[in-house]
Amino acid sequence: MSPARFLDLADFSGDEVRELLALADRLQRHPEPQALAGRILGLVFLNPSLRTLASMQAGMARLGGTSFVITPGQGTWALESRLGVRMDGAAAEHIREGLPVLASYCDALGIRAFAEGKDLAADVADSGFRAMAALIDKPLVNLESAINHPCQALADWKTLDDERVPARAKFVLSWVPHPRALPLAVPAAALHMAALRGHEVVVLRPEGFALPPAVMARAEAAARASGGSVRETADRQSALAGAHVVYAKEWGSTAHYGDAAADAALRAGLGDWQVRESTFASAAPGCRLMHCLPVRRNVAVADEVLDGPRSVVLREAHNRLVVQMAVLHRLLKP
Ligand code: CP
Repeated sequence: MSPARFLDLADFSGDEVRELLALADRLQRHPEPQALAGRILGLVFLNPSLRTLASMQAGMARLGGTSFVITPGQGTWALESRLGVRMDGAAAEHIREGLPVLASYCDALGIRAFAEGKDLAADVADSGFRAMAALIDKPLVNLESAINHPCQALADWKTLDDERVPARAKFVLSWVPHPRALPLAVPAAALHMAALRGHEVVVLRPEGFALPPAVMARAEAAARASGGSVRETADRQSALAGAHVVYAKEWGSTAHYGDAAADAALRAGLGDWQVRESTFASAAPGCRLMHCLPVRRNVAVADEVLDGPRSVVLREAHNRLVVQMAVLHRLLKP
C-alpha cells in the first residue's frame, strides 16, 4: 500500500490487491482484537451512508481501536469547501481549518465527499477530494469521492472470489434506472476492479450514459495488464449473452452532466432497463446479480432478482467490513 493512503484501487497491482484480500481472509480466520488498541479513526461524512459509516466503525472496534464520526452541519459546524469565497452563508468553518484540526485528533481519517454533479471534468479529476486530501498529513481512506469508491471495489473483488467467479468470466456493468442522476464513483470503481481482476468487461448503458473516456482508458490499461478486456455498448442482447455477473448500477447522463431536466427527459423512457429475471434469459447458468446498495426495489432491480438465488448483494455489503479491516490494519498497525 502506498504510504498510508487508500484512495484508489488503481494505485495497486492485481497482486497487491490479492495480498490485501489475503490479509482480510487471515483476519477473518484469526481475529486480532487488540491490533489497533489505542488507535483512533476519524470519519468525515459530507454525504449520507449506511454501510460505509457502520462498517468502518465496526471494523475499527473489532481491531481494538475507536472512531469518531463528523457529519458537518449536523451537530458540528457546516464546512465550506470552495476557495476564495466570502463566508457569509451557512458554513461557519472552512475545510482548510476543519480537516487539519480533525486530523490532529486521530491517527487516520476517512472522508466521504460525493461529486458536485455540475462539472464533469472536475468530477472525473476528483478535484474536490484531492484538495481535501492535500490538507491532511495522516493516513487517509477514500470513503467515496466524486469518481472513486475503492472500499466498495475491494469488497466486490472479494465477493467475486467468495463466489468462485473465475478471472476470465464475462462481467456486465449494467446501467439501471433511478429517479435522478447519481454519481459515477461506483460504476468507475467497479469497472476498474473488474478490468484489474482480468474479466471480459462490458459496460452496458443507454445512449447518453457513456462512461467518460478517461475512466474507460484507465480501465482499458488495467485490462491490458491483467489479460482482460473492456468494451462499452447500448446493445442489451449482445451484452447479456453468456454473462457470468451482472453488476447493476445507476448513474447520471454524461451527455447532459449537471443538467437535471435534460437528464430526467432522457431517463424517462428507460424504465425497462430495470433488472428482472428475464434480464438473465441468455446469461450463463448461475449468473450473479451484484449491486453496491442502497438499491431502489422495483425501480433499479426487481424483487424477484434481489430475493432470488442469484443476488449476492448482502455478501457484498458484509464484505465491506471484512476488507476494510484489512485496509485499517495495513494503515494503522504499528
Ligand atoms: N455502498 C455504499 O457505499 O453504501 P453506503 O452509501 O450506505 O455507505
